[in-house]
Amino acid sequence: MYYIGIDLGTSAVKLLLMDEKGEIRKIVSREYPLSFPHPGWSEQNPKDWYEKTLDGLEELLTDTDRSLVRGISFGGQMHGLVMLDASDRVIRPAILWNDGRSQKQVEYLNDTIGREVLSGYTGNIAFAGFTAPKILWVRENEPENFARIAKIMLPKDYLSYRFSGTFATDYSDASGTLLLDVQHKKWSEEMCGICGISTAQLPRLCESFEKTGTLKTEIAKKLGLSDTVIIAAGAGDNAAAAVGTGTVGAGRCTLSLGTSGTIFISSDRFRADPNNALHSFAHADGKFHLMGCMLSAASCNKWWMDEILKTQDYGREQAAIQNIGRNHVYFLPYLMGERSPLNDPKARATFTGITMDTTRADMTQAVLEGVAFAFRDMFEVVKSLGIHPKSAVICGGGAKSSLWRTIMANVLNLSVQIPANEQGPGMGAAMLAMVADGVYESAEAAAEAIVKVKSQEDPDPELAGLYEKRYREFKTLYPALKGVFAGMAD
Ligand code: XUL
Repeated sequence: MYYIGIDLGTSAVKLLLMDEKGEIRKIVSREYPLSFPHPGWSEQNPKDWYEKTLDGLEELLTDTDRSLVRGISFGGQMHGLVMLDASDRVIRPAILWNDGRSQKQVEYLNDTIGREVLSGYTGNIAFAGFTAPKILWVRENEPENFARIAKIMLPKDYLSYRFSGTFATDYSDASGTLLLDVQHKKWSEEMCGICGISTAQLPRLCESFEKTGTLKTEIAKKLGLSDTVIIAAGAGDNAAAAVGTGTVGAGRCTLSLGTSGTIFISSDRFRADPNNALHSFAHADGKFHLMGCMLSAASCNKWWMDEILKTQDYGREQAAIQNIGRNHVYFLPYLMGERSPLNDPKARATFTGITMDTTRADMTQAVLEGVAFAFRDMFEVVKSLGIHPKSAVICGGGAKSSLWRTIMANVLNLSVQIPANEQGPGMGAAMLAMVADGVYESAEAAAEAIVKVKSQEDPDPELAGLYEKRYREFKTLYPALKGVFAGMAD
């Protein structure tokens, strides 16, 4: 039997075919454009997601016995606002998780409605990437679009709706809307009232491993699949990656070094960070998690390599780095503003400390280290809650670099485990489809049977000591520049 995991990312959709034992049979990906119509804005066309996914599925299924395919599920970029009108037409491009336009609405929610009130309704406060402030932005700035809204959905739920006709979402992804009462797993009537919408415009809530429907007959025919293929709700990409890396149950940790950078702590009970610097979300295993999310992680290195150094040879640039732990250059990684723990869309990236003898390699190193230091900022919040993981699984595109993994292990002073398969969200999605189809009785049972760790990298006391000193210096930079960034943005 085969299951398909669809990882709907920010730069591409990745499709993965897995058998019921967890063996990955094939991986296919398709890229799509991302547009930045104004500084700090970030949009994508939902039609691109659908068309590229269908196209990718055709290739994924070539030379595959299609009669063996039993289920499909998703891990999707979170928080994106997709709005459909009464005829199911997409009203405007989706406003994505890393879009910072809604700062005014965030201030209204956090300061006028109040953080405590929001936290009481949802378990979280407002951040610019979350869905609710973006709904308020549309209401204020595009009233004609707001008036046409019949359905509000998240990116992966748009795919699921097109595939099955079922308007549903899962608790992990719904958590990032700021419309869900996370602890009680129901839409918050109060938050809907504040945003001027009704729960009738929102999808049905499901567990990630629940079957929500089956493949529409016309799509099944087009792909040569049976129309009994099940669709499972799936999860936000971080929760799906956590399933795919075995971060389920209580007290486990994943670091994801993807376009965004996330630290994910699984928990068997609901708990909120009293300062709300970390998000309190539902998990795809039916329980809960805490998560910090930085907006630019591996994307900082991609920007530095592709846009500035104009090279695709990341390995060669990293091979020139000879003095890890020692560097006089610092990089603040706030290319899209920052979410956790700063909550400051006006923050900007900088290099600091450059001198006449600074080399290209020093600056590349500063980029990798700056991202790791910003992870450390989030890790400090985790530790302040009394959570002290000894190890974490590391995943995402940036984790393919052994140099970056070493920097992460030593900056965080934490053992990092490298999973045998690095396809976190896609793998987690396929595993959720298996649970929905009854192959495994829970996400934890699927993880137990399927997820394997390949190797572990432990911190080196001397290097961790060097990084400790440098982290203390790094920590002084943002507070010193915060006012400058705010002035520049204004
Ligand atoms: C999580 C977040 C990002 C996106 C990236 O809160 O915004 O990790 O899910 O796809």
